[in-house]
Amino acid sequence: MRQFISPSILSADFNNLGREIQIINNSQADFIHLDVMDGIFVPNISFGFPVIEHVNKIATKPLDLHLMIIEPVRYVVHLAEAGAYIITVHYEACKDLHRTIRHIKKQGVKASVCLNPNTPVNVLNDIITELDMVLLMSVNPGVGGQVFIESTYAKVRELKIMIDKYNPACLIEVDGGVNYETGRKLFEAGANILASGSFIFKSENPAETISKLKSFCINSCQ
Ligand code: DX5
Ligand code: ZN
Repeated sequence: MRQFISPSILSADFNNLGREIQIINNSQADFIHLDVMDGIFVPNISFGFPVIEHVNKIATKPLDLHLMIIEPVRYVVHLAEAGAYIITVHYEACKDLHRTIRHIKKQGVKASVCLNPNTPVNVLNDIITELDMVLLMSVNPGVGGQVFIESTYAKVRELKIMIDKYNPACLIEVDGGVNYETGRKLFEAGANILASGSFIFKSENPAETISKLKSFCINSCQ
């Protein structure tokens, strides 16, 4: 199984962002998850290019960008230049999803689509073969620290069946309310990447929390 941890810096201490990134650099984390919000697709506004560029300068882990913005295709080139490794766009926020995904891949960046909790997996039927990753929201997007939506496990299993059939290389990431219990069950259900914010950064020892989340990997993690 390919299983990874992607700490979301939305819950990090922004007064000490450099130090927080160093903690991730020195941990067993596999990615750094960056949540970009526009105040339109989601009510909240988070951060944009200056922060992403700053993080990219000091991060040793690949940047996993989660765009909660409408028509993200407008920013793909700039985000690729800012250091994105994976760009995730929301199905609900794109007028032309195929064009958006192809535009991301054209920049040499991995392309991923995110589904809100109430968007069914079958909307991906016509695009799954083109994706490097699917991100399933296990809370409504926009803020950290929410309670995990239990129906996500079934959704992961359903998506895994689709992926095994049509695009086995495609990864499944889950985002929102990830902790030791939900994380273990998500890996068991077939998730490959866990994005986790408050559970990691509000813990006493974030690096240790990352190691423990990672220890729930099934077999050996690659
Ligand atoms: C929420 C963001 C998440 C957030 C997760 O809209 O996409 O990445 O940081 O936060 P937790 O892990 O606290 O639910
Ligand atoms: Zn996110």
